[in-house]
Order: sequence, then structure tokens, then C-alpha cells
Amino acid sequence: MEDNKKVIFSGIQPSGSLTLGNYLGAIKNWTNLQDEYNCYYCIVDMHAITVPKEPKDLRKNTLEVLANYVAAGLDPDKVTLFIQSHVSAHVELGWVLNCMTYYGELGRMTQFKDKSKKQENNNITAGLFTYPSLMAADILLYQTDLVPVGEDQRQHLELSRDIAIRFNNRYSETFVVPEPYISKVGAKIMNLQDPTSKMSKSDTNDNSYILLSDDDDSIRRKFKRAVTDSLGIVKLSDDQPGVKNLLGIYSKITGESVDNLVQKYEGKGYAEFKEDVAEIVVNELRPLREKRDDLLKNKDYLEEIYHKGAEKAENVARKTLRKVYKKVGFIPR
Ligand code: TYM
Repeated sequence: MEDNKKVIFSGIQPSGSLTLGNYLGAIKNWTNLQDEYNCYYCIVDMHAITVPKEPKDLRKNTLEVLANYVAAGLDPDKVTLFIQSHVSAHVELGWVLNCMTYYGELGRMTQFKDKSKKQENNNITAGLFTYPSLMAADILLYQTDLVPVGEDQRQHLELSRDIAIRFNNRYSETFVVPEPYISKVGAKIMNLQDPTSKMSKSDTNDNSYILLSDDDDSIRRKFKRAVTDSLGIVKLSDDQPGVKNLLGIYSKITGESVDNLVQKYEGKGYAEFKEDVAEIVVNELRPLREKRDDLLKNKDYLEEIYHKGAEKAENVARKTLRKVYKKVGFIPR
């Protein structure tokens, strides 16, 4: 029975092609959870416009993210896949939560600080600043138990929990307080050119990230150029962030433990290790890419999925929103 299952919510911004980080840190984990949990996976287009976006790119990227979800193995008959802007309860609850979130809390978000530094001419929007309270609304609307995300979303999730607890204390028990679900391996895939920082599609050097749209040869080339160190020993050490990152990628995809991998590459050089990592990634991403490209040819099918998803999500979200409106003192229409 779906009603007895715990609830999972997560989302990805449609802001360009997804990276290997998005895939290993988020989507790959989601597929393992779909039988056991009642899952909502959203494409957060409203979050995407917190920095300027070309409308035609946003439309294209939104469908691409949906196609990636399905291609990666999320079954639209088991999980709810939907587009954030289709369920207006997200912004409605977002507003209420904005009124319960402190300026100081939002100012402390490291992602806000990083992203606002990148905005030209200091054009930082109010949307970028209040982004985490919309994210809290996404999660809290579904009475979510667990939120599977990469490490970089931990701080946002902690804020979502604080907001939920604050609301419950002020108005009485309303929201489930969500827990983060962050896997041990693959929660922070690093930049291939600078393995001390996170892999991100906004990086200016395209050798630093693997995109889910990259062809086989680009993937091989990028791993060949991946920065390591001069020690020449494959082992897990914080002093070897490049090697550590490659070990994590290998282990996350194959399920082999890092200890096993270290043994396997004992006495072998980085060239062979990097080639093997590249092949593993190529073999993981090729079927995903092919399936995604096929799905993108069938827009009617994708439309069917997001229509059905929005309807299901809307029903649940409205119920929570009605409760919230009543509790804060809004008169029902
Ligand atoms: P976004 O779109 O930046 O990233 C989507 C997911 O990918 C993970 N991720 C990574 N994991 C490992 N290594 C990396 N290098 C890497 N880069 C990205 C992210 O942790 C995330 O899980 N604010 C969110 C979107 C969002 C959301 C939500 C998430 C909006 N509402 C509600 C969960 C619940 C974001 O910008 O993710």
C-alpha cells in the first residue's frame, strides 16, 4: 500500500545538460528507492530562473531532465515525475515560508554566496536569495521523510528542517521534518581539472566536467586529462584528491569497494587506472544517452508523464497547503 510507504522528494534544476555529478550524486540513488518508497521527483524550473535563462533553452532542458529521469530507470508508473511550475502550491507555500525564514539564515547559505559572486554587475535577484525557502516548500508540501541529494544540498536541507520545526512550534504539528539521504560514495563528485572543488556545469573549462550528453570519445579524452598528482600510487588519501575522486566514481558505478579497487591497481600506473574509469563511465552513460535521445523523439509520451505527475502531485500538495493556510489564519474562499 502506497499510503504506508515513506515519502521521498528530490529535484534537479533544468539549467543545461546534467553532469556526472548530478547523475551519481542524485539520480542513480533515486532509482534504487522507487520500490520501497513513495517517490516524487521534480524538475525545478522555478528554481532555474533565479539566474537568467533563455526561454527556449529552459523548455528544452526541462524536457531533457525528464527524459534523463526515465532513461536512468525511474518508472513513471511507480514514481511521480513532474514539473515544479505545474503545481502552483509550491510558490504559494514558498511565500508563507519566506515569511518565516530569516534574512540572516538566507545570507549564510554558501550556495547563495557562491552563485551571487558569479552574477555580473551585481545583478543578484531576490529569487536567488530566497531560493532555499522555495526548496523547503517543495519538500514540505509532500510530508517528505527523506530527501536524496548530493552533499552540496546539505545546508539547504538543514534550513528546510529548521523552517519545518519553526512552523510546527508556532502553529502546531503540520509538517513532517525531513531527513537528508546522502550516500557515502558519490555524494560529491569533484571537478576533473581541480579536484578540490565540486564538479559543476557552470565551470568555464569544459574538461572539468562530464555531461550526460558527452559522446564516448569526449568522455575518454576528459578522463585522460583528469588532474591527479605525481605520486603514481592508486590509494585513498586526502592528499590525492584527484585519485580519490576517480576511485569514488569507479566505486559508485560498479559497486566495488574502494579497498578492492586499491588492491586491484596496486603497482599499476595512473594511465591504466584512468582508462578503466573512463570505460566504466562510457559504458554507464552510453545506454542512458541513447535511451534519452529516443525518449526526446517521443514528446507525446513525455507530455503524458508530466501531465499525470502534476495531477498526482497537485492533489497531495493542495491538501498540505489548505492546512497551512488555515493555520496561519487565511479565510477560506
Ligand atoms: P542541482 O540542480 O544543483 O543538483 C541536482 C542534484 O545533483 C546533486 N549534485 C551533485 N552530487 C554529487 N556531486 C556533484 N558534483 C554534484 N552536483 C550536483 C545535487 O546535490 C542535487 O541532489 N536546490 C537543488 C534543487 C532542488 C531540490 C529541491 C533538491 C530544488 N528543490 C527539493 C531536493 C529537494 C539544486 O540546485 O540541485
